[in-house]
Amino acid sequence: MKEFTSEELLSCDGKEGKPVYIAFEGKVYDVSKSPLWSKGVHMNRHPSGKDLSGEISAAPHGPEVFERYPQIGILKKSPPEELKHLPKFLQGLLQTFPMAKRHPHPMVVHFPIAFLMASSLFYLLFFIWMLPSLGTTSAHLLALGIISTPFAIATGFLTWWINYRSKLTRFIKRKIQLSILLLALEVTFILFWIGEIQISYYLYLMLMILFAPIVLLLGYYGGQMTFPAEK
Ligand code: HEM
Ligand code: HEM
Repeated sequence: MKEFTSEELLSCDGKEGKPVYIAFEGKVYDVSKSPLWSKGVHMNRHPSGKDLSGEISAAPHGPEVFERYPQIGILKKSPPEELKHLPKFLQGLLQTFPMAKRHPHPMVVHFPIAFLMASSLFYLLFFIWMLPSLGTTSAHLLALGIISTPFAIATGFLTWWINYRSKLTRFIKRKIQLSILLLALEVTFILFWIGEIQISYYLYLMLMILFAPIVLLLGYYGGQMTFPAEK
């Protein structure tokens, strides 16, 4: 049976004496003989030469009407326009799991945001009250923040590639700069913990407080892209 690409199908739209073909759930039908598809349009609103699978729900009938006309081919599966810039394996994966297109980044970003902001807050409280338990809590939260950051950054690059075609916008530029700053800050603390570098008490405090505005800005710029503020 002939395999039609969507371009080939488009040229069979009943105009200028061309045949009238329509696709439904992967099958191509020839409805040229139907008076209800004359001039290539059905009920003044459904054009032929297209895959109409998604439009049948608007019809007063079901797919049984296709039994009246011959199937003359199958429609070649082509990836949706918005996935064409990606490698084949990723296109297949995202078509099977559409949730993976946009969800991974928002699913993981809230971990570093919450852990690092809470870590800053606990360090500030430790500075004020000098209770060792507050300092310990802050350090533990910082460790969790450090563990979750690479996942946020990796999924950030992924969503930028999948949904924004890696276009460098003002917000993305800021997010990459802030992510580098965040990683540098986290590496500084790791080096301090393993005894490779020394940090004075006040520098430690300043760096600890810095985590909160960095993750807030990262989230703010992200939110501006996902939910642009109405002007
Ligand atoms: C607002 C939407 C639609 C309306 C009001 C509509 C209405 C109708 C009616 C009244 C018939 C004749 C039914 C019969 O003889 O039992 C028909 C036939 C048919 N419709 Fe639709 N339809 C709609 C959408 C669609 C769509 C989206 C498709 C394709 C996916 C489609 C494909 C067909 C086919 C193949 C026939 C058989 C034509 C024939 O027997 O000559 N229709 N439609
Ligand atoms: C720790 C680092 C990061 C944090 C905390 C963060 C945080 C966020 C947040 C909160 C959102 C809004 C999510 C939503 O609710 O939909 C977002 C969206 C976004 N972020 Fe990030 N982000 C980080 C790193 C990155 C990086 C490195 C990139 C890319 C280079 C990036 C690209 C994006 C894009 C493209 C969106 C919009 C997603 C969409 O519209 O679906 N992010 N980010």
